Amino acid sequence: VWVGLGAGEGLRAHIADLAPSAVFVVADRTAWEYHGREFADLGEVYCFEPGERSKTIPVWSEILSWLADRKADRKCLLVAFGGGVAADLGGFVAAAYMRGIRHVNVATTLLAQVDAALGGKTGLDLPHGKNLVGAFHHPVGVACDPRFLTTLPERQLRNGMAEVVKYACLFDPDLFEQLDRGEAAALSEGIGFFEEACLRCVQHKAAVVRDDLEDRLGRRALLNFGHTVGHAIEAALGYEGIYHGEAVSIGMVVETWVGERTGYTGAGTLERLRALLLRWQLPTGLDNRCRIEDVIAHLFLDKKTEGGRISLAIPRRIGEADVVAGVDARMIEEGLKSL
Ligand SMILES: NC(=O)c1ccc[n+]([C@@H]2O[C@H](COP(=O)([O-])OP(=O)(O)OC[C@H]3O[C@@H](n4cnc5c(N)ncnc54)[C@H](O)[C@@H]3O)[C@@H](O)[C@H]2O)c1
Ligand SMILES: [Zn+2]
Repeated sequence: VWVGLGAGEGLRAHIADLAPSAVFVVADRTAWEYHGREFADLGEVYCFEPGERSKTIPVWSEILSWLADRKADRKCLLVAFGGGVAADLGGFVAAAYMRGIRHVNVATTLLAQVDAALGGKTGLDLPHGKNLVGAFHHPVGVACDPRFLTTLPERQLRNGMAEVVKYACLFDPDLFEQLDRGEAAALSEGIGFFEEACLRCVQHKAAVVRDDLEDRLGRRALLNFGHTVGHAIEAALGYEGIYHGEAVSIGMVVETWVGERTGYTGAGTLERLRALLLRWQLPTGLDNRCRIEDVIAHLFLDKKTEGGRISLAIPRRIGEADVVAGVDARMIEEGLKSL
């Protein structure tokens, strides 16, 4: 994983070492228009329309045919270029084409750099729900250049920050402090701030994923902090009008509230977390567009809920967390109501 200015150069040298028979690029159109120039000589490019709607079987199938039309063989290499959608879609093309070809991720959103580009989870949405089809297929290289972030809309940057806060809460009190000095530092240090944050997140994610490459041992469940409630919120809103990171932000607050309520989380943790999220202008509670009943209904549909009990990743304090099994899902309802 290359993190930092010129990360693409490191990745290009790696691709040359891998000596693929050919290189094919699957790119988010917007990301490619902004940043594709230095990669344009790698190989032929397929641009998909930006957005979650491209993470679907018709687009995936079209890209498979596009590869076959070009007689791509098993020794070729695919470059997925863009945010989390590019990583999930491109990665799942690579997982399926000829039972698996190699791919690399060039991550151009903060969310993809700190989370989606690494870890090997690839896949698509169905009309029935998000991420219902997919495979584990690890990239053979990842590039995260903070320069890409200079063109990212501010709301997308904040969206990615929610995942950075997640890693800080789970593993990294120093990073938490750094984020707490906050926006001011990010604005003055500019991309250097995001480079450092990204490097830390990548190290934490790699440390968890490395021991559980296919999510079989439950170790990766820690990374679900904020996501159990966050996913239920996204589903309750029909995935409209809220970004993933924003839902996770609310989810982290609710899940930490449950932690404090059950005595699992040290007092004061919730207040620190909430203050940090507010500083980054991330939401910390539901607004009136979203009904608590709908969130609870989706929570009970969650495959991780059994007999009204659910496993949650909960911080004990900032920088230390565990997965707690058997939490009464009604506690979450109480949390949502009181926040
Ligand atoms: N596989 C995983 O482990 C994992 C983890 C987290 C999220 N995800 C998935 O990732 C997706 C969300 O990722 P995302 O937030 O990156 O969304 P995204 O890929 O849709 O990108 C967001 C928007 O930013 C634009 N964009 C991308 N790079 C840009 C740049 N440098 N400058 C300007 N605009 C740019 C895109 O065109 C798009 O409109 C979801 O589908 C989610 O399920 C996967
Ligand atoms: Zn996430």
